[in-house]
Amino acid sequence: MKSNTEKFGKTPHQPSLWTRADALKVHADDPTTTQPLVSANFPVLSNEVFIWDTMPLRDMDGNITSVDGWSVIFTLTADRHPNDPQYIDENGNYDITRDWNDRHGRAKMYYWFSRTGKDWKLGGRVMAEGVSPTVREWAGTPILLNEQGEVDLYYTAVTPGATIVKVRGRVVTTEHGVSMVGFEKVKPLFEADGKMYQTEAQNPFWGFRDPWPFRDPNDGKLYMLFEGNVAGERGSHKVGKAEIGDVPPGHEDVGNSRFQTACVGIAVARDEDGDDWEMLPPLLTAVGVNDQTERPHFVFQDGKYYLFTISHTFTYADGVTGPDGVYGFVADSLFGPYVPLNGSGLVLGNPSSQPFQTYSHCVMPNGLVTSFIDSVPTDESGTQTRIGGTEAPTVEIKIKGQQTFVVAEYDYGYIPPMLDVTLK
Ligand code: FRU
Repeated sequence: MKSNTEKFGKTPHQPSLWTRADALKVHADDPTTTQPLVSANFPVLSNEVFIWDTMPLRDMDGNITSVDGWSVIFTLTADRHPNDPQYIDENGNYDITRDWNDRHGRAKMYYWFSRTGKDWKLGGRVMAEGVSPTVREWAGTPILLNEQGEVDLYYTAVTPGATIVKVRGRVVTTEHGVSMVGFEKVKPLFEADGKMYQTEAQNPFWGFRDPWPFRDPNDGKLYMLFEGNVAGERGSHKVGKAEIGDVPPGHEDVGNSRFQTACVGIAVARDEDGDDWEMLPPLLTAVGVNDQTERPHFVFQDGKYYLFTISHTFTYADGVTGPDGVYGFVADSLFGPYVPLNGSGLVLGNPSSQPFQTYSHCVMPNGLVTSFIDSVPTDESGTQTRIGGTEAPTVEIKIKGQQTFVVAEYDYGYIPPMLDVTLK
């Protein structure tokens, strides 16, 4: 397997590297990059469904948008099964942990609405059963297109395969609430190509998902970020000097880190509607560092490109580690080079005493960071936990140059609009 330079040599840009040296700078529990402790007494959004990845309605420029005064979020959602014999353990108790861990296999896209940017009311499923071509409806982005209320939902159709798709519908408001109409025809956009982005045939544990379309504030063109892995057979990747970076003595051994090959992918639209896309080389690769850079997204601030992506402790490579949370990189132009924020990349991680308290952070242009509650310890030893499946408290970060700082915490699931669109 070739190095980044050999592999992407003749392409318009070179992917930036998140190196092992960068990752050695990751430190859990730095208060400026750690999410405040989430209490085990959290309220849940719903006793009927679990929710996790949260996707606020926004425009193509990234602004969180309400319609006629209604805030709207989309969530990955799965039924809770407190009475299903399949999830009752040998003592007759509901095994919520197993139910929660199985959720990815039955993930569906739902929407919620609110007058206050919190206290969300369940709207329902976005697509009727049978509309989406695969079993799993995985993460993506709902985009409000115009004052007629048209919405393009970009998401990932998974199992079989993993295809970036979109489906168009419309948001309709009344005094009493919001409904989603249409969303009846799913259009496949693209899949991993095996040349830049790893395919299932190359690696059964491949990742190819989480589309995040946007308009580049500088060139005005339509692009899309997504999660991928660098193409090549599993195990064939090289963790060379460039991927290792400038490490101190004793840190040259890369172990089995060639199996961790995450990247942040980018595609450019050939048309104005975003129906025809061309994949470009990744913006950022993490070969030898981490296997997942999920839900990549941008904040455009101070003329810079702030690239955020979520990752896990368990997906780090041998010899490097970090908390579950959101990581970030900054560049002066879209195609980089990208530099890790705070030296390491870590922007907001879970505290080591509650390593799974939250996940799937989304940094919004107003500095607010939304995430969901995964599991929170209920005893000192951390052996007993309470499963979340609901919105976490929103955290505010301040982004200053190449640094970020946690500055405030707000209510559960607080996602206020940045602008309101009056529908015609
Ligand atoms: C992040 C994530 C996404 C994926 C979804 C599947 O929490 O892993 O990358 O689309 O969850 O449930």
